[in-house]
Amino acid sequence: MKKLCALCGKTSAALLYLCCMAEDLTIITGSKAEIYRSLIPQIKGLLDGEPDLIANLANVSAALKEQFGWLWVGFYLVKNDELVLGPFQGPVACTRIKKGRGVCGAAWQNAETLIVPDVEKFPGHIACSSLSRSEIVIPLIKNGEVIGVLDVDATELDQFDETDRTNLEQIILLIPIS
Ligand code: SME
Repeated sequence: MKKLCALCGKTSAALLYLCCMAEDLTIITGSKAEIYRSLIPQIKGLLDGEPDLIANLANVSAALKEQFGWLWVGFYLVKNDELVLGPFQGPVACTRIKKGRGVCGAAWQNAETLIVPDVEKFPGHIACSSLSRSEIVIPLIKNGEVIGVLDVDATELDQFDETDRTNLEQIILLIPIS
């Protein structure tokens, strides 16, 4: 039988159900694939039943930053034909990026994930932080249109690979976009 959460009223099959109770992320060590295997169900849990885009982007940024310790993890959202800074974790960042500019603007223009092993070799890279050495940007797509991007920066060269691409793309697909 389904139970109502004692705090917020959401339903679940659990016996004692406090879905909005504060919960710590379980941080593990291991291969990237193992880490994503542990993290993805936890991200699903964080997003479950929550329709608010900003709340969900904030928690996804925090979960990725906490588990991987990357320099910068966050979102830019398309507003009036520009990318505007959204929820993020890390140092302060550029607030607006035009289509086609930098790694984020290129991922938006091409509607595809970009992996940049060395940001200094990417023509037009926008250096929000001088500490960034490599980067991955994944577009958020709704009805065939890019509505934002997930941007991740690392302090070391060549930190992102196909495992990150497939898993981060999977994580992005979990976010409900109304
Ligand atoms: N480096 C990005 C700009 C955003 S920051 O890294 C947070 C780019 O070239 O688009």
